[in-house]
Amino acid sequence: MTEPPSPVAARSERSLDELTASRLTLDDLVDRSALREMAGSFYELFQIQLMIYSEEGILLSAVAEQPELYAYLNEFSAPREALVELARRVRAIDPRPADVTEHCITGAVYQVFGLDYDNRQIGRLILGPFRSPERREVDPKLVELEPSLDPEQLKALFARLPLATTETVALIARHLKGALDLILFSGHKALLTTNMHLASVRDSFRELQEKNAKLQEAYNRLKELDRLKSNFLATVSHELRTPLTSIIGYSEMLSEGIAGEMNAEQREFVTTIHEKGEQLLELIMGLLDLSKLESGTMSLHKREVDVAELLDDVTSTLQPTARRKGVQLTSSVGAGLPTLWADPERLRQVLLNLSENAIKFTPEGGTVELSAAASFMDVDAGEGDADGMVLFTTKRPAMSLVVADTGIGISEHEKARVFDAFYQVDGSSTREAGGTGLGLSIVKRLVDAHDGRVEIQDNSPCGTRFVVTVPRRRASISG
Ligand SMILES: Nc1ncnc2c1ncn2[C@@H]1O[C@H](COP(=O)(O)OP(=O)(O)OP(=O)(O)O)[C@@H](O)[C@H]1O
Ligand SMILES: [Mg+2]
Repeated sequence: MTEPPSPVAARSERSLDELTASRLTLDDLVDRSALREMAGSFYELFQIQLMIYSEEGILLSAVAEQPELYAYLNEFSAPREALVELARRVRAIDPRPADVTEHCITGAVYQVFGLDYDNRQIGRLILGPFRSPERREVDPKLVELEPSLDPEQLKALFARLPLATTETVALIARHLKGALDLILFSGHKALLTTNMHLASVRDSFRELQEKNAKLQEAYNRLKELDRLKSNFLATVSHELRTPLTSIIGYSEMLSEGIAGEMNAEQREFVTTIHEKGEQLLELIMGLLDLSKLESGTMSLHKREVDVAELLDDVTSTLQPTARRKGVQLTSSVGAGLPTLWADPERLRQVLLNLSENAIKFTPEGGTVELSAAASFMDVDAGEGDADGMVLFTTKRPAMSLVVADTGIGISEHEKARVFDAFYQVDGSSTREAGGTGLGLSIVKRLVDAHDGRVEIQDNSPCGTRFVVTVPRRRASISG
């Protein structure tokens, strides 16, 4: 897909090389309105008409008032043609190497001067018509050209043309060129600055665009990798489960003596195969759950859950493990606890994972306590108010399930990381506790699926408290 051109890149720009004085025209360098203003003030001062042409022949500025004499002559065809011819001639004059003086059919004078910038001719300045002191009368040839012209009127109108010597006009031209030089210089400077600024903005914009494209590419690649990883996890776990079930089943049958009596050593080996098979199956089930949760394909089967019953079930399941470890496992639930709208199997899995961890990371003689209490949780801003403006914080009835231990605790900077898949605080190969680091990432995703949240707090005087808070009711805001 092609990107629309950016406003910055679309601006016509020139390279710095093109902006050197040797490449620029008069039209590039001056602002036409500034030029007109300057020409206007010179006309007001000296009353002599002036025109400025660029080297390419473009008229950049002219004082528009036509002298009355010329307006009168334009009424007659022969003088008009002569004037048109004169205008063409004057425009074509090349004032190099010296200024040129041109006489008009009326006897009036035009002077043409070259305009330079940075030792280069970039235009022409034409001053006139004016009367020179040497010729104060209108040219008699004019009446010969057009006999119907009124000599008296011609004389009167000619007398109204400004009177100046060619030296004075040359002086005026010099001042004009001086003023124009200043305008050209500041125009050139402004052009350079603007273009340099534009170039640097365009560079930064291009750089940003490139970085953006790279980021997008990296993001797409990561997303694709993530998808592949989830697919891979799901497929492999699923494919491993079937043969593993056979291994577990057959090793169980062997250890029960169904295929004949075994000696003690053989029974021990087969029992190990059975135990390790069970562990592997648990890991595979965990991976399957995780990939289902990641891809959003795990469906919850919610119903009313009796929380006290759930806690009792979890404690009795884990009681043998706790006893083996020498850890005291208890559950306490206040009277009159309301029911909870949730998936009991998934909630049981959450509490089992948390309690297994608590037992695993609590030394002998410690305690692990499960409890539950009715609570409230903040309604998300987006959920409570369409505009995302929360005027009153709305609370939603919730249930808090707590697993508290007196174990080794989790340091502040590890608290956010332990929910990552495969993350273990002690990741060394010599670690004592078993497991793969999947338990908490499954807990987090299951709680998220229930619109709840899980928090890690420090227990007093030592150990950890995992607090799972899930909404109690189906509707988003109700009492
Ligand atoms: N109650 C706890 N006290 C101290 N550390 C804990 C506790 N619960 C979890 N942790 C830390 O968080 C890590 C991740 O926990 P998680 O349950 O995800 O993995 P695991 O228990 O190591 O393995 P698995 O659950 O897959 O068998 C643990 O390895 C441990 O370092
Ligand atoms: Mg665990």
